[in-house]
Amino acid sequence: MSITSLNGGQPHGAQPIRPKVTTTTIHEKKLRHEPITCLTAYDYATARLVDQAGIDMILVGDSLAQVVLGYDNTLPVTMEEMLHHTRAVRRAVRSAMVIADMPFGAYHEDEKDGVHNALRFVKEAGAEAVKLEGGAQRVGLVKRVLDAEVPVMGHIGLTPQSLHKMGGYKVQGKDFSGIERLVKDAVALDKAGVFSIVLEGVPREVAAMITREVSAPTIGIGAGPDCDGQVLVFHDIVNLTFREPAKFVRRYGDAAALFTNAVQQFKADVETRMYPSDAESYHLPKDTKVELEAILRRKEMKAYSR
Ligand code: KIV
Repeated sequence: MSITSLNGGQPHGAQPIRPKVTTTTIHEKKLRHEPITCLTAYDYATARLVDQAGIDMILVGDSLAQVVLGYDNTLPVTMEEMLHHTRAVRRAVRSAMVIADMPFGAYHEDEKDGVHNALRFVKEAGAEAVKLEGGAQRVGLVKRVLDAEVPVMGHIGLTPQSLHKMGGYKVQGKDFSGIERLVKDAVALDKAGVFSIVLEGVPREVAAMITREVSAPTIGIGAGPDCDGQVLVFHDIVNLTFREPAKFVRRYGDAAALFTNAVQQFKADVETRMYPSDAESYHLPKDTKVELEAILRRKEMKAYSR
């Protein structure tokens, strides 16, 4: 494979194919009531495709723990693993905004650690923002990370890192105290200066209310169509998760079928000697081939005469 076939002929460092998406772009889209698009990606190949498709933001989500690393939940993924995948995404992306998800434990013990880890994502992996879960209780941290010049995306509602505290993955904000808490959290994050807020697993009506209430764009996942934007997990939309999709997931393709078919065809072709063909093989230069055939013939004759 040549270098040009790897990067589509566009050398690294070349002009992006569309204007760079920044926090300003995202904010302006809310003002213009233009839907904001966000997908997760965790590696070079998928991040390239997502970027080239024109998606606004790419989130290197801690969902990588489940969809890439095979864990049952997001809790085990480490800073080092998140950095590793963020770097791969960074190398692929020209225009979309790259956001790194702060993993469980990276900001829960003290704010100083949280700021340190947020800076690592920018300095060591090229992220342009970080996402962290939690509402009013994260305001101090959000302000300190912003003071360190790192944009923050908030994340409230069904926050998977609170799995054990929530007692499972449950839609949040279904009663009045829950609604009040969510609105308070959203307003607190907005006032703290987050550039956007993910609303996950929240009734449509509550998400719509919060979206009207805050100036930061809301990015919904299982939060209905009234948010300023939508985010989904890449592996969910292409059927690569090996589990029943959640209610809010829409499958746009079947990569599992596509990949399985390709692998099965390869296996069959090798087993029936249909792969590789002569055209898929390298050949000796003509002169060398003639010489080699002569050597082999002489060898054969010698063996025969013994
Ligand atoms: O980790 C993740 O993928 C996420 C999004 C789905 C919001 O947090």
